[in-house]
Order: sequence, then structure tokens, then C-alpha cells
Amino acid sequence: MEIRENKQVIIDGKAIHTWDEVKSAYGKRMETYGPGSKGLFYSSDTAHSARLAHSSKILHQIIRPDDSVLDVGCGVGALVPFMPPCVYRGIDLVAQSVEEAIRFYPDLSFDCANLTDITEKYDWVFLIAITASVPMPEVLIKKAWELSTKGIIVDFLDARKDHGDDLNTFRMGACTDLFLDMGAQRIELYPTRNLWNVYVVHKEPFWL
Ligand SMILES: C[S@@+](CC[C@H](N)C(=O)[O-])C[C@H]1O[C@@H](n2cnc3c(N)ncnc32)[C@H](O)[C@@H]1O
Repeated sequence: MEIRENKQVIIDGKAIHTWDEVKSAYGKRMETYGPGSKGLFYSSDTAHSARLAHSSKILHQIIRPDDSVLDVGCGVGALVPFMPPCVYRGIDLVAQSVEEAIRFYPDLSFDCANLTDITEKYDWVFLIAITASVPMPEVLIKKAWELSTKGIIVDFLDARKDHGDDLNTFRMGACTDLFLDMGAQRIELYPTRNLWNVYVVHKEPFWL
């Protein structure tokens, strides 16, 4: 079953089918809006911080200080202040965003890269605030799962709550089925009062 309710992603009036088109669309938004939250589709900085603060509570429960973490679609590094201690690396398709992230957080590791090209393993791979605006969310989810040794943390716009036409909205049941098919041993779902839900998908079973 399709995990998304919609058929395509539209960014600024243009249908997005390829990673190059994602890169170009976000690059243009960076040029237009600068490194702030609006370029990343948030209505305000407050809405952006609220979303990351919610994820932060979950991350603090799950991530250990010696865990390696890959933050996919890190943008300008907005998640960094909300992160628990860990061995962090951020990647993003858009060079301008990565340059800003390095400027804000010179001591951390950031690279301009597509997740599909990454081969190193990480304890945790994050897809936070990214699935709504990519043309092939399942490809990213499966790749993140392949690269992780402990699991993935991924959030989705819930199709029952968001009926917008342009961004991806997801069926939670189909997402759960996908995780089970991938071999997930434990799946935690954190609904929020807002439009998105957060999943923590573990490789380690609960019954040890
Ligand atoms: C809505 S922004 C979210 C940025 C950041 N996570 C935040 O909340 O501030 C989504 C980001 O994902 C990046 N992205 C999309 N597909 C990607 C891929 N395949 N590999 C790496 N980055 C990707 C985009 O360039 C964009 O910067």
C-alpha cells in the first residue's frame, strides 16, 4: 500500500520529481528567504522551534552520548540546539544551507550530500521535517534503515490531520506496515497536537 495519500510534491508551483529538483527548489527558497524558517515551509520561527522542541524530548530519551547520528536534511542546522549529546553529522542537498550550518556550528560535522550516496553506518539516522517535501520518501526511509544500526527517527505529516495539496501527507497504518516489512523490532509512535507524528523505529527487540 502507498504510504502517501497524495501523488506528487509541488514546491512553489513546480512539481518535483528528482533530487536535483529538490535541491534547486530549496536552493531558490534559501536565496529568497535566507536561512530562516520560512524557507523551510514553517509559518514562523516559533512553529519551527515548537516542532524541533517536540522531537528533542523524544531524542533525549533515546540517544546515548556515544551514539553516532546522521541528521538527514539538516538544513542550516536548526535541530542542533535541540540535540542531546551525541556524535553528530548533518547532511543536506543544498550547499548554501550546509555553509550556513558550518558558520553557525563550526565545531560540528556537516556535508553537502544526498542520503542516497552515503555508505557509512550510523547508530541512528534521523529524517526530521524532511519526508513532506521529497518526491521519493520511501527511498529515503529504506536507505536510512539500511545505514542505521540502532534504528531511525522519522516524522510525517498525518493525512488525517493535513489535507494540503502540495506536500506529502502520510497514512500512518501504511507507514507502520512498511516498518514491519523492513524488519522493525519495535515501533514507537508519538502523535502530536500539530499536523505531524513522530516514529522511532528500532532494530533492537524489546524482548531481549
Ligand atoms: C523542510 S527542510 C528541513 C530542514 C531541517 N531538518 C529543519 O527542520 O530545519 C528539508 C531539507 O531536506 C533536504 N533534503 C531533501 N532530500 C534530501 C536528500 N535526499 N539528502 C539530503 N538532504 C535532503 C532539503 O535540501 C532541505 O534542506
